[in-house]
Order: sequence, then structure tokens, then C-alpha cells
Amino acid sequence: MENFVVSARKYRPSNFKSVVGQGHITTTLKNAIKNNHLAQAFLFCGPRGVGKTTCARILAKTINCQNLTADFEACNECDSCKAFNNNASFNVHELDAASNNSVDDIRNLVDQVRYAPQQGQYKVYIIDEVHMLSNQAFNAFLKTLEEPPKYAIFILATTEKHKIIPTILSRCQIFDFNRIQINDIAEHLRYIAGEEKIEAEEEALRLIATKADGALRDALSIFDLIVTYSAGVKLTYQETISNLHILDYDYYFKVVEGLLAGNISNLLLIFDEILKNGFDGHNFIVGLSEHLRDLMVCKDPATVELIQVSDGTKERYLEQSKLCGISFLLSALHICNQCDIQYKASKNQRLHVELALMKMAKIPQAIHLATVAQEESKKKA
Ligand SMILES: Nc1ncnc2c1ncn2[C@@H]1O[C@H](COP(=O)(O)OP(=O)(O)OP(=O)(O)O)[C@@H](O)[C@H]1O
Ligand SMILES: [Mg+2]
Ligand SMILES: [Zn+2]
Repeated sequence: MENFVVSARKYRPSNFKSVVGQGHITTTLKNAIKNNHLAQAFLFCGPRGVGKTTCARILAKTINCQNLTADFEACNECDSCKAFNNNASFNVHELDAASNNSVDDIRNLVDQVRYAPQQGQYKVYIIDEVHMLSNQAFNAFLKTLEEPPKYAIFILATTEKHKIIPTILSRCQIFDFNRIQINDIAEHLRYIAGEEKIEAEEEALRLIATKADGALRDALSIFDLIVTYSAGVKLTYQETISNLHILDYDYYFKVVEGLLAGNISNLLLIFDEILKNGFDGHNFIVGLSEHLRDLMVCKDPATVELIQVSDGTKERYLEQSKLCGISFLLSALHICNQCDIQYKASKNQRLHVELALMKMAKIPQAIHLATVAQEESKKKA
């Protein structure tokens, strides 16, 4: 049996171009290389799994490459690049500050910095989770960071920028990594599915992308998990929601239909089915609020872009939003929101949600009565 390599490792970008969603950073780095204007200390900040370590490694590889492409990318073919790609280069040192945060660890590192590289131009030191270094370790490091030998480059990475002391911040060029957009993640997953010859439904990929909350590594792990579960041939929306235990958005469309029709019995039955499937009432209400918000956003062509779903689903949203008046959506959102806020405090949470559904189901009628009353009073005047 072939060894299974997780997608996050198998598809680690090998050059700047293949890094997803961090164009502002890769362009700046490439320009610095092009103009020979590279800082010696960088701080890469941002959430988990968005490409900080990846970019640090690509930078290290690129500045040591013996044969840069016209586009200032690493060639991935020269001896230096090959050594990097096999994790065998002597020109890159990675220190995980989460587990090596003592003064001695930093002293070791500082000692190493004294030796110039034997091959290649630069030695790159990547210090991951740098906010975990002890204060003393930080102090032992400051001097080297301030006046490093010209062949040394430091890349500090952290998910918690606010924990970095100002003396370090002021000595580094700071790059803020973005959470990655759902569209970009979905597209990357589509590419990987293609490479792996897995037939994947668009909706399934989007769902994974949404669930990953901006972290590409998480998206890749979820993807692997579901592919393994579905025997590695087809990735369907149904399998993905059951695996991730996500409520099918079909339910929300049905609930809104029920609300518009004022059909309370139907709503109670749908909610009962949702609970029976093991979902939590609070999640349901939060999900319903998001659904109503998406319908609201669809009311104006200018804001339609704010909903992050596939084109097919967008059509469904647009259609349903045509049936909903703005006053209906606003009132329903308000009720949902109140239900969400008070949920935890409620003694009977099932009834709490049911009551919210009943109130929402009465909105269309209330709006109708109000309009009639208004017209009546106009006639009298
Ligand atoms: N922007 C990106 N483009 C392409 N792949 C990415 C990107 N970000 C993350 N990945 C994927 O996720 C894996 C992990 O990314 P990386 O180690 O660079 O994250 P990180 O930002 O350093 O996270 P952490 O804060 O947890 O250390 C990579 O091997 C790659 O497969
Ligand atoms: Mg990292
Ligand atoms: Zn090279």
C-alpha cells in the first residue's frame, strides 16, 4: 500500500505563485528580492494555517536559489532548491519556540548564527510561535536581531502579535497574513480534488471552505477526512453535511416558506425533525439568522456579492428573497436575534425556539393588518 500523505503536506506550495490568498505578502517579498532590498528580520503574523511557515520556507529557498526564474521564483531544480525540498538544506533552521523557549535554546541559536553558510548566500532562521519565548530568552535574542551578520535572516512567526514586546516589533518588518476567503479555499480544494481524481460536488467544497473559517490547513484536513470516509472517489454535499454535522440549508429554505405561509404546525414539525436528528436548538436559531441575513442581502443587487455561496444556491436565495418583504425580514431577524441572546438563560429551550418560530410566523399577518389600517385611515382623511 502506498504511504498516505496528508494533503496539507502533499500540497504545500513550492513557490510564491502557488500561495493562496496572500498576494500582498508574496508580491512584496518578490519585489524585495528583485530590488535586492531584503530586510533582515521579519515578523509574520496571522491566524493558524494560513501560510506563515510556508512563506518563510519559500523565502529561504528563493533567496538561496542558484537559478532564479525571470519572475523571481525559486527554480526548484538547482542543488540548493532540491536540498530545501527534501528538508535537507543546511541554510534553514527552524526553531519551535513553543517547546524551546528557554534562554539556553536561544543562546544555541545565537551561537549558530556566527557561522557563515558554507554553500549558498543566506542562512535563514525561522522561529515559530515566537510569542512563547520567555522574557529572558527575548532579551538574549535582541542584540542578534538588531545587528545580525549580513548572511543571516530571521523570520519570526506568531499567531499572537499582541504578545510580542515592542522592542522586537520595532526591529522587524511586519507582515500581516489574511484569513483566506471562502472562494479561494474552495478553488484550491477543487484543484486538489482534480489532482487526486476525486469527483467533488461544488456545494461540498464550499461547505468545507466555510467550516475551515479562513484556515487553509483546516480545510485540507477536513477534506482528507471526508474523502477517507467516502472511500476516496466521490465527495458529495450529503456526505459532507452528515460528516461535519452541519444542518442542511434546505431546512432553512423550508422554514422561511413556513413562516411566509404562517403555517405554525409545519414549523413545529420541521423543528422537531431537526432536534431528532441530533442538532441543537441554539445552532438552529443562529443558522436561521444567517439565512435571513443572506435573504436580506439579496434584496439589493449592490449587496448580493456579500453572500458566499455557489452560483446555483445564490439563485435559490434570490428567488426566496423576492418573496420576502424587507419589513418581514427585519422583524424576523429581530426575533431570531432576541431568541439567540436569551437562549442560554431560558429554562425551556425547546419552547423558547418554538415561541420564536410562532412569533415569526405571525409577522406576515401583522404587516398585512398594518397596511390595511393605514389605507383605511388614508381613505377617511
Ligand atoms: N496561503 C496558503 N496557500 C496554499 N496552501 C496553504 C496556505 N496556507 C496554508 N496552506 C496549507 O496548509 C499547510 C500549513 O500551512 P503553514 O504551516 O504555512 O501555516 P501557518 O500559517 O504557519 O500555521 P501555524 O500558525 O499553525 O503555524 C501548508 O502545508 C499548506 O498545505
Ligand atoms: Mg507555522
Ligand atoms: Zn533553485
